[in-house]
Amino acid sequence: MSKRIGIITPGGDCSGMNACIRATVRDAIYHGFSAFGIYDGYQGLIDGNIQQMDARSVSGIIHHGGTMLRSTRCEQIKTEEGLGLAANQLMKNKIDFLVIIGGDGSLRAGARLSEKGIPIIGIPASIDNDIYGTDETIGFDTAMNVAVDAIDKIRDTAASFNRVFLVEIMGRKHGFLALAVGFASGAEYILIPEIEYDLDRICTELSQAKEKGKTSEIVVFAEGAGSIIDVAATIEHKTGIPARASSLGYIQRGGAPSARSRTIGSLFGSYAVRLIRHGSANELVVLESDNVSHIPLEIAAARRKEISKDIYALAKLLSM
Ligand code: F6P
Repeated sequence: MSKRIGIITPGGDCSGMNACIRATVRDAIYHGFSAFGIYDGYQGLIDGNIQQMDARSVSGIIHHGGTMLRSTRCEQIKTEEGLGLAANQLMKNKIDFLVIIGGDGSLRAGARLSEKGIPIIGIPASIDNDIYGTDETIGFDTAMNVAVDAIDKIRDTAASFNRVFLVEIMGRKHGFLALAVGFASGAEYILIPEIEYDLDRICTELSQAKEKGKTSEIVVFAEGAGSIIDVAATIEHKTGIPARASSLGYIQRGGAPSARSRTIGSLFGSYAVRLIRHGSANELVVLESDNVSHIPLEIAAARRKEISKDIYALAKLLSM
């Protein structure tokens, strides 16, 4: 009997997820499997919101942001009871493999589901790019480009007005997206939770730079690095330079996926089916030096990705 593959996109959506769903469904069908969409994330799984998909179910979605399977933030899946309910639904619907396209919390829940005997393939998808083992997550490239484009626009005003602009970048407790955005936009400062910063020193440097004729300063500020409003107020108070805070928010998470996000999404989806064809379970699909590969899901769930101190240092050096 043909294997039944469930596909779910729990937690935060990101651009490129639809390309990944499309590739997973079509590659699965091509290889004789049945594909089932699990709607509304883990809450939908617990509630049994599962429908069979065919090749046409995923038509016309490759260029859309968000997820056609929709999503929720589900607290219940973090509990033993929730995991048990989810596992029961998968068994009741005779799902042989569950493909989880999601961020770190969703993949960690997937690792716990695998301990209950559910064969899982994880696919890293999150604008935060904070998942161990993969150089890049689906959605990261689109979010980075959206944010860099926004900062280019903000810099026009920063230069015209001689102001300091602080731009808040998403990333929950991590600064991977903020560091990449700060580097690519030539930000003068990048404040991220992983690296301690000295606000007094920054204020002194900002004052000195102004005296030397620097007209604009961009501070990329990760959402996990503290209160952007407080830091902007301190900078203005200590330097006398007008400081403005601008939070980019959810525009970073949506919109048409970049070519790279679509490509990575499609490659990851197809690779997940390849793993299933070879009978591999409880693996995470990853990108390592531009090669699609896999690592054990439990290792990815247990370890923390490290921020690149070299890129951080180089960003500082180049923004002199
Ligand atoms: O994980 C993706 C992300 O966009 C984070 O960058 C952000 O902190 C979080 O989700 C916001 O989640 P929610 O939309 O559920 O508040």
